[in-house]
Amino acid sequence: MATSTKSDPKNMDLTLRIWRQDGPSDRGHLQTYEVSDISPDMSFLEMLDVLNEQLNAKGEEPIAFDSDCREGICGMCGLMISGHAHGPEKTTTCQLHMRSFKDGDTITVEPWRADAFPIIKDLVVDRSSFDRIIQAGGFISVNTGSAPEANAAPVPKQKADRAFQSAECIGCGACVAACPNASAMLFMGAKVTHLGELPQGQPERWARVVSMVSQHDHEGFGGCTNTGACSVACPKGIPQDVISTLNKDLRTAMRQGG
Ligand code: SF4
Ligand code: FES
Repeated sequence: MATSTKSDPKNMDLTLRIWRQDGPSDRGHLQTYEVSDISPDMSFLEMLDVLNEQLNAKGEEPIAFDSDCREGICGMCGLMISGHAHGPEKTTTCQLHMRSFKDGDTITVEPWRADAFPIIKDLVVDRSSFDRIIQAGGFISVNTGSAPEANAAPVPKQKADRAFQSAECIGCGACVAACPNASAMLFMGAKVTHLGELPQGQPERWARVVSMVSQHDHEGFGGCTNTGACSVACPKGIPQDVISTLNKDLRTAMRQGG
């Protein structure tokens, strides 16, 4: 590692091994970079911004990576960091701070790995397969018009809580990246549970689950073998039992001839 003069003794010098891939057909490789004087208060993406400024200054191609909100809301920023989806903390990559690392660390940064998330460039993957699963059934149909009276469709507290918890899924894809089968069952389970717990989700409930599972399989995601890696990696704490709800709804729909 190159010697550096730190502006603060708490700052870190790090070695980064980052996946570089020119495009979908390029083989790709890990490339080593050094960054110095990294504040523990920086986010992981800000640390990558620092590296990209260095590369730009040298006239080299910056590293392509996705981000949008940088607040843990949009689900754009997923990276595999030293073998862990979103890194060592239970949060999104944009909300991961460099205080989770220590001076002298070597950090490996890779894109999500799944056939259904093809690599576009460097750390950027195409997650439009998730969009197509949502288009297949992750919605409700309602008549527009004036807002209904708030107490017209009471929802028991337990169901409301479970719907809210499931609605926290941000579609980041960490569950797929962490799963040895690259299954998207946790993502789908969250959507099916969110809508299936509410009165508004009932009319399309059985058609929804059949259609979403069929699209999931068509996209090339794998099947669930209950490893639980998805739920451990999920930055929003979506519990594994949403997959049981998904399977239960699918069995009911099939019995009904769905
Ligand atoms: S279930 Fe969790 S890990 Fe999977 S897409 Fe939703 S928020 Fe991300
Ligand atoms: S950039 Fe939006 S969740 Fe990370």
